[in-house]
Amino acid sequence: MIGREHMRVATLLGRARVHGLFDPEPESVRQAVAEFASYSAGKLIVYRDLRSAVDDPAIDAIFVCSPNFTHFQILQQIKHTAKPLFIEKPMAIRLDDARSMLLLADEYPSFIQLGMQYRFKSQYVEAFHEIKERNSLGAIKTIAMSEYRPPFLNKVKQWNKFNAFSGGTLVEKCCHYFDLINLMAETRIDNVYAVSGQAVNFIDFTYEGKDSDIHDHAFVVMQFAGGISASFTLNMFSRELYEELSVTGKNGRLLASEHSSFTPGSRSRAEIMVEVDGHPAYQGKEVTYPAQIEASGHQGATFFEHEAFIDQLEGKPHDSASCEQGMWAILIASAAQQSAAAGQLISVKDFAAEQGLNDVLSW
Ligand SMILES: NC(=O)c1ccc[n+]([C@@H]2O[C@H](COP(=O)([O-])OP(=O)(O)OC[C@H]3O[C@@H](n4cnc5c(N)ncnc54)[C@H](O)[C@@H]3O)[C@@H](O)[C@H]2O)c1
Repeated sequence: MIGREHMRVATLLGRARVHGLFDPEPESVRQAVAEFASYSAGKLIVYRDLRSAVDDPAIDAIFVCSPNFTHFQILQQIKHTAKPLFIEKPMAIRLDDARSMLLLADEYPSFIQLGMQYRFKSQYVEAFHEIKERNSLGAIKTIAMSEYRPPFLNKVKQWNKFNAFSGGTLVEKCCHYFDLINLMAETRIDNVYAVSGQAVNFIDFTYEGKDSDIHDHAFVVMQFAGGISASFTLNMFSRELYEELSVTGKNGRLLASEHSSFTPGSRSRAEIMVEVDGHPAYQGKEVTYPAQIEASGHQGATFFEHEAFIDQLEGKPHDSASCEQGMWAILIASAAQQSAAAGQLISVKDFAAEQGLNDVLSW
């Protein structure tokens, strides 16, 4: 699904050409080839295996858009190429694999960019500009993030209905939001407490004899160094999609929001509101990307993620997610999942030590 979006967006951006693809599922290949032909007259090579795809000297960069549980294993099969890599989020479903990936990224002759494109959503780009560049709120005190959305979509072989393949809902889906919270806090996490569960979705869902165990809601509370408190709310049995980031500082509050829908043909609407005396956006303003970009995937965020990838390829400044940032996001997500399972407050530093990670993380 996201692989087709990357092909479409790369073509729309026009700074690279999609050369070919490999996917072990014939139906996925059929869909990708048919969709590509609908917007491009370009030639598309379908490779017979991963090795012949990544070793093709005509290929300058590789996008890995396979299920979460395959990312680490595929990285082992392609690292010899030393080509620029884009790997979808989450980087891995196990923290020890993420640690190995971080070590590999440090030594890798080229770069590894992670698919954390929510940081390129228009309302968050505006929010970071207001808070970090313009310092509109003064020092940040609280960060409250929430996502309301319909259930997980159908995936090839339903890997996203099982913790063993996805890494768990907070790792799989919500690493985006922990990344945003980390970028906003700009300091290290101390503690996390979470409750989560499977209340409505996929209760009776089975695939190949296994019952779905994926959670569909969560409340996560976080304490960061420097007196910043944060929260994340997830609900996945809502009719439509709604995301909200509310940040407060001494000078006031910023609200960044997005209404969108999975209904084909519907447009999204992104807004920010800056409740600071005299601010021109005090009553709110729309910040949705232009229609063609907005419609290209993830409200236009994927378009700017590709721009960042090509900028990085060309040695220009970029805001794309590194393996280290991806690691911090899934570390908090994993600690939250552990907290919810144990019903306990978790010291993230202690949790990282138990997982053998503190040699690669600086606190
Ligand atoms: N950044 C985002 O917002 C975003 C959105 C959706 C999905 N994703 C991520 O992208 C990845 C794929 O998600 P999706 O929604 O496209 O799933 P999907 O199930 O729709 O597609 C995954 C494809 O990978 C193929 N595949 C499986 N094993 C493979 C292998 N070893 N080598 C090559 N291809 C293989 C499958 O046949 C399938 O066609 C996941 O990691 C997911 O978390 C990210």
